[in-house]
Amino acid sequence: MRIPQSFIDEIKYRNKIEDVIASYVNLKRAGSVYQGLCPFHSERTPSFTVFPNTETFHCFGCGAGGDVISFIMRAENLEYPGAVEFLAKRSGLEMPEEADGGKSETIKRSRMYEMNRAAALFFNKALYAPESEPAREYLKKRGLSRAAVKRFGLGFAPNSFHALSDHMHSLGYRDEELKEAFLCGKSERTGGYFDYFRGRIMFPIIDNFSNVIAFGGRALGDEKPKYLNTSDTPVFKKSRNLFALNFARNACAESLILCEGYMDVIAVNMAGFPNAVATLGTALTSEQARIMAKYTKKVILSYDSDDAGVAAAKRAIPILTDVGLEVKLLRMEGAKDPDEYIKKFGAARFKTLLEDSQGKLDYLCDSVLKKYDILIPEEKMKAADELCGVICGIWSDVEREIYITRIAERLSVEPSNLARDVERRMRRKQREEDTELRRKVVSDTLGYGDRVNREFVGNAKAARAEEAIIGILLLRPELIPEIRRGTVALCADDFVTAFNRRVFEALTACGEKCDIGALAQDFTLEEIDRITAMQVKRSALSKNDLAVLQENVQTLKAAAEEKNTENELEEIKSLLSKKKK
Ligand code: GTP
Ligand code: MN
Repeated sequence: MRIPQSFIDEIKYRNKIEDVIASYVNLKRAGSVYQGLCPFHSERTPSFTVFPNTETFHCFGCGAGGDVISFIMRAENLEYPGAVEFLAKRSGLEMPEEADGGKSETIKRSRMYEMNRAAALFFNKALYAPESEPAREYLKKRGLSRAAVKRFGLGFAPNSFHALSDHMHSLGYRDEELKEAFLCGKSERTGGYFDYFRGRIMFPIIDNFSNVIAFGGRALGDEKPKYLNTSDTPVFKKSRNLFALNFARNACAESLILCEGYMDVIAVNMAGFPNAVATLGTALTSEQARIMAKYTKKVILSYDSDDAGVAAAKRAIPILTDVGLEVKLLRMEGAKDPDEYIKKFGAARFKTLLEDSQGKLDYLCDSVLKKYDILIPEEKMKAADELCGVICGIWSDVEREIYITRIAERLSVEPSNLARDVERRMRRKQREEDTELRRKVVSDTLGYGDRVNREFVGNAKAARAEEAIIGILLLRPELIPEIRRGTVALCADDFVTAFNRRVFEALTACGEKCDIGALAQDFTLEEIDRITAMQVKRSALSKNDLAVLQENVQTLKAAAEEKNTENELEEIKSLLSKKKK
């Protein structure tokens, strides 16, 4: 499970955080730190900061932070061991073979990859078995050529409860392993194992390293569910992967085509556009948008043309725009999805469709205009109102003016009137944003909405002292032995909030060699963000010595004491009120 600390140290020694991050972010020196535009949220002024002294990064905008390993986890969408491996490769180090007597996470991962690959081969072979005629018939009906089957490694899961398991057992895989990879399920009633995918066309999901990481299985007929997908496993997170990215990433310099379905991606590929991807049966996530932004600047949304598809496209636009991607939308008429369009009208017409794809503003305006009959005054007013909403989201003054003129013409109203409405709306929006920001600052200070440390709210005073203590210890780990020695009278039980207690325990367990990186194996990325912020906050202050540490310990104890009396008072009150009754 654990990678030896000595190896992590070596990795971090060879991969200086500022060098590693420099290949993702354009960093500029600012005194003792480096600054640049945050790769994890969209911003126009740099608030992303790298601190070479403490070997950490922190974004003052979105709060992301951590060490070089947590940076790679985010930037490359890897889990901890994967990120370590990535950095090992970058610096020419071999991963330690058996980190933990053969049970290490990395080894389990590689076994899961092998297992998935063996299953993919089994499914592919099963497609050509005599009894799989209906599956072959189905693929033919859907126009999937032999070449497509080969390129995407498609297969067929026989309609049997144990065909795959039998085969996998013969290769030495155990039922529990199969279950962990979502190839098998376990019956709660009988405790027996059974094949998860049965009688389905199988679409392997393949990552950028050519590992088979998951499957999607489509029913041959109208059985429900239409698609059965692998749930998250140690090697697969559906929110962080895209179907066919393994092909698309080599062909997407200009743009990526984002489709809704696997079948669409395959059809678009076979029509000569290898730059197509799809999400894995869920709505688009910002993680997926970030991944796309790594490979391209422009995304052509090619969702279904039905209401659900249009709604999904509207939701996807801001997610893509937020990571800095240019968004275009396909104007598809006469077919429900790209797959059907290509079958009906051919690859050449689809190419024209791609070339004629519309900017997101035109798309949003058109979809409003389509909804209303502007010859009816009330409808025209509604349309104008909604269009103002679209226009006031335009950041550039010139672009906004262009749209105001264009829309005024479409609605046949005076441009100056429309412009006034837009302005009024923008002021209102600004006011709302200001209020929201103020509210957020207040609630952050009080700890509301704190997902990492849920006990912050209600214990703000104690929790702030705890965070100061943690921040100081991270900056001055040589003070940790003072706690052990008793110079500083502080122990884990003094901590009021469980999260901070856990951080403190991890810190003291590491001793004076402790840093954020040493914690990364035991905390989530979100938690590491928070811990880094504690350190960053302290490093902005001039004094972080034994005396300040002592002061904060006193504050913590006093706050905990107050809290206790408060609790006692509450108890007494409630006892009294019970007595009265
Ligand atoms: P066809 O209907 O065969 O053309 O498939 P499609 O790929 O066009 O799929 P569709 O547009 O119906 O759905 C889009 C995507 O949503 C699919 O590729 C799946 O990833 C996912 N999906 C569809 N139906 C289901 C379902 O019943 N369960 C789950 N989990 N995902 C589904
Ligand atoms: Mn379809």
